[in-house]
Amino acid sequence: MVAEFTLNNLIYLDTIDSTNLYAQELLKSKKVSEGSVIMAQHQTAGKGQRGASWQSKPNENLLFSLILEPTFLPVSKLFYLSKIIALALVDFLDKMAVGSAAIKWPNDILIAGKKIAGILIENNLSAACINSTVVGIGININQTVFDKEMHATSLKNEQGIEVQPRELLSNLLLAIHSRYIQLHQKEWQKIDEDYLQRLYKYKIWAGYQDQFGNFQGSIQAVRDNGQLEIVTEKGELRTYNIKEVRFIN
Ligand code: BTN
Repeated sequence: MVAEFTLNNLIYLDTIDSTNLYAQELLKSKKVSEGSVIMAQHQTAGKGQRGASWQSKPNENLLFSLILEPTFLPVSKLFYLSKIIALALVDFLDKMAVGSAAIKWPNDILIAGKKIAGILIENNLSAACINSTVVGIGININQTVFDKEMHATSLKNEQGIEVQPRELLSNLLLAIHSRYIQLHQKEWQKIDEDYLQRLYKYKIWAGYQDQFGNFQGSIQAVRDNGQLEIVTEKGELRTYNIKEVRFIN
């Protein structure tokens, strides 16, 4: 069984470079167990996907990292971890009635086309095994002003009310725990169905950009290894790794 993720294992920090970096340091010292959570009010060097930084105004948002030990997961199914974490965030936002949340491949969380949460998963592998994973999550809670090019929103922008980020943590951990159990029980099909049901622009014609330029396409599938399949208007099936394709509208 997977032990519950509770606030008993919470390390609450005022300011830190990045909760993911802090979690990785803890793992190196081996003084940490599955379910440990590191939360910070402010990050001075928050990490985003693809080497980007994660900007967040101090004290306004929920920033944390959860340590997992998914040693039961075959490396070939690693992307399922990404799927269940994205689904847990969608479940959580559904419960908060924030509006219809969608998962923009691979795992950005959007409300009405704007990003409300980001996920950065860092796996520590040895040969074909997963030793440990740091799941970093940033959810925009009370921040109302974002750079325009970020196309971001927050709970406050959507619902007009302020909540203490820390108050949301235990419900979010519950949501992650129930999806993590699905992963542990190898419910691949159910996870796939739920992921595709909430996948942004799934089977909808939309604009994309790849190394050859802009094109209209429709997402057909996400492979077990996380690659995205898009069919073009000419009927050509193109497959992408992260970074190789951009959504343009
Ligand atoms: C993304 O680029 O969408 C992923 C953003 C992940 C941000 C979170 S905030 C808490 C944790 N610590 C980090 O340094 N990054 C993640």
